[in-house]
Amino acid sequence: MLDNFFNPKTIAVIGASRTPGKVGHDILKNLTQYGYQGVLYPINPEAPEILGLKAYPTIMDVPGEIGLAIVVVPPKSVLEVIGQCGKKGIDSAVIITAGFKESGSEGTKLEDELVKKSKESGVRFIGPNCLGIIDSHSRINASFAKGMPSEGNIGFFSQSGALGIAVLDLAMSEDVGFSKFISMGNKADISDEEIMQALAEDENTKVIIGYIEGVRDGRKFVEIASQVSKKKPLVILKSGITSSGIKAASSHTGALSGRETSFDAAFKQSGVIRVQTVGELFNYAVAFANQPLPQGPNVAIITNSGGPGILAADACDKLGLQLVPLHKEIVDQLRTFLPPFASFYNPVDILGDATAERYEKALYTVVQDDKVNGILVLLTPTAVVDVEGTAKAIANIAHLIDKPILTSFMGRKSVESGSKILMKYHVPNYSYPEHAVSSFSAMYKYNVWIKRPEKVYPHFEGLKNKVNDIFESVTEEKREHLRETEVYEMLNAYGFSQPRSLLARTSEESVTAAKGIGYPVVMKIVSPQVIHKSDIGGVKINVNTEKEVENAFFDITSRVKHVMPMAHINGVMIQEMISGGKEVIIGITRDTQFGHMIMFGFGGIYVEVLKDVSFRIVPLSKEDAHEMIRETKVFPLLRGVRGEAEADIEAIENSLLILSQMALDFPQIIEAEINPLLVKKRGEGVVAIDARFAIGGD
Ligand SMILES: Nc1ncnc2c1ncn2[C@@H]1O[C@H](COP(=O)(O)OP(=O)(O)O)[C@@H](O)[C@H]1O
Ligand SMILES: [Mg+2]
Repeated sequence: MLDNFFNPKTIAVIGASRTPGKVGHDILKNLTQYGYQGVLYPINPEAPEILGLKAYPTIMDVPGEIGLAIVVVPPKSVLEVIGQCGKKGIDSAVIITAGFKESGSEGTKLEDELVKKSKESGVRFIGPNCLGIIDSHSRINASFAKGMPSEGNIGFFSQSGALGIAVLDLAMSEDVGFSKFISMGNKADISDEEIMQALAEDENTKVIIGYIEGVRDGRKFVEIASQVSKKKPLVILKSGITSSGIKAASSHTGALSGRETSFDAAFKQSGVIRVQTVGELFNYAVAFANQPLPQGPNVAIITNSGGPGILAADACDKLGLQLVPLHKEIVDQLRTFLPPFASFYNPVDILGDATAERYEKALYTVVQDDKVNGILVLLTPTAVVDVEGTAKAIANIAHLIDKPILTSFMGRKSVESGSKILMKYHVPNYSYPEHAVSSFSAMYKYNVWIKRPEKVYPHFEGLKNKVNDIFESVTEEKREHLRETEVYEMLNAYGFSQPRSLLARTSEESVTAAKGIGYPVVMKIVSPQVIHKSDIGGVKINVNTEKEVENAFFDITSRVKHVMPMAHINGVMIQEMISGGKEVIIGITRDTQFGHMIMFGFGGIYVEVLKDVSFRIVPLSKEDAHEMIRETKVFPLLRGVRGEAEADIEAIENSLLILSQMALDFPQIIEAEINPLLVKKRGEGVVAIDARFAIGGD
């Protein structure tokens, strides 16, 4: 895939320049000096030769075929150049030139024309407005980065070229190799998804890292990232304000979902390892690129000082890693050579006077413990420590075993030589133990992700015709919100159980309805203008007698008339009172980038205060539903505290999946929420007490 970008036999630099410091010069220079074996053609209408290479006025004058075009001409000439590329049979171009979408409306127009032109001409391109590409294996440096990263197995794509170059610079100073670097620029043609796929197939790439500010097609991103992350770790730093947002926000669900929730959900669902800082991006990349994955969460720590050992242990605890007690035989063995004051338990403290040999023996012994899935070796540069010797000893063992070993030789100056040795032998070294731990944790979680069975997407057959009829009349009447009765029908059509309800217009009708339903009952105002009924005293629960019904009817209607004189009152709903159970909220929102999302959270009237919610993108798999419930703080409450019975969590999962099905069946749903969904004891199901639906658009 994208072969001509990374493995072209010939490259033309269109807009090559004789003047050092100009992009057209520096890129050509970079291409000449790192061992690219193919033929280079500088294209310049005036110069006969540049940097000792024969130059041609246009690509049409180049005698042979051209694999890849690097375009550095001014923006107004780019279209023409792409047209020529098409005629010359060039199918791949990197457009460095800026002055497109990033520069305003004129540029946006030009970019649209460029996309059109490239389609007509059969030329795929990276950019525009990018800093170029690098392939350390085919020795192509078609960028204006300073220097060339060494050969390695980290594939890196970045929406910000500058950030990309900064990361490469860091990599060069730490001897970390890269397979490919792609500055994506405006992503007008070749997308993140295509690059991720190409890197997934690239045999020189072991881990894929990326920096993005936004995605063009959220669904596509989730689909491709899910496939890629099963093949290789995909670590992404996402920043920036995106146009992502929620269209309508008149409900809790809308108010609770924000710009970042959709990305969070998308990343979780597609196995993307999300990092928050450039440092983390780099740290994880180095770990994944160099060490095998841990097969479990059990870590052993070997250290020559107490404090860092405890810090690392704390960090492990926070990130779900476990410091397993070592087997008795292993401890006994350690006792044979460690000084008596050493700590033989995990963390194993081999003391401040530890020699390289002591490190080596301790490490060799601890890796034999079959419960241990990986080892962190910490070193504080005490006066007696042999930094280089210890680094070599660790590298020797790391080379022999298939468990991950990460190190933290703490500090900088006095451990630098050791760090270089470790990195050279593929043992990642971190200045801080917490960084080693978080990298280890990312590797562990990734291993869990790839070992997961295929996701299951259950299908629910709702009574779609019935819902279609409802939606038709809502649209005809130019409404957005469904009426209470329509909501009832809609939920019914998808199998939700609901409390028996009757609408009463008078006090007398209320009494009759309550009798029919059976005491106690709940009474609620029914008015299209009232969104949150209890806020204005529009709900009375536990109404037990005829007299109470009459009073409640009067109370509710007069309260609403008083607080909202303009509200039209349709009547009062008399409802079966469901006792016991726990209240959760479930809902649907629509995100502009990722489409429908499903929400779960702590329900009832405090939902917006507690903000204890989780989101996933539609379609929801069984696993997604399972996980999103467990992510919230309400989960332990559902499991039951202090002898309470466990709630019917499976029924909630089912309800979430049904909402996902509704969203798939009816794209016109803008938002929906059931709040509360009353969850009864395990095996007894859930009841949808109160719900809202809004539809519109497509
Ligand atoms: N049928 C019912 N059975 C038991 N409790 C109910 C019932 N209806 C409402 N409630 C309680 O009253 C609260 C508010 O009612 P609800 O219908 O959700 O109105 P709103 O959200 O508009 O204020 C619910 O969160 C629930 O605690
Ligand atoms: Mg409610």
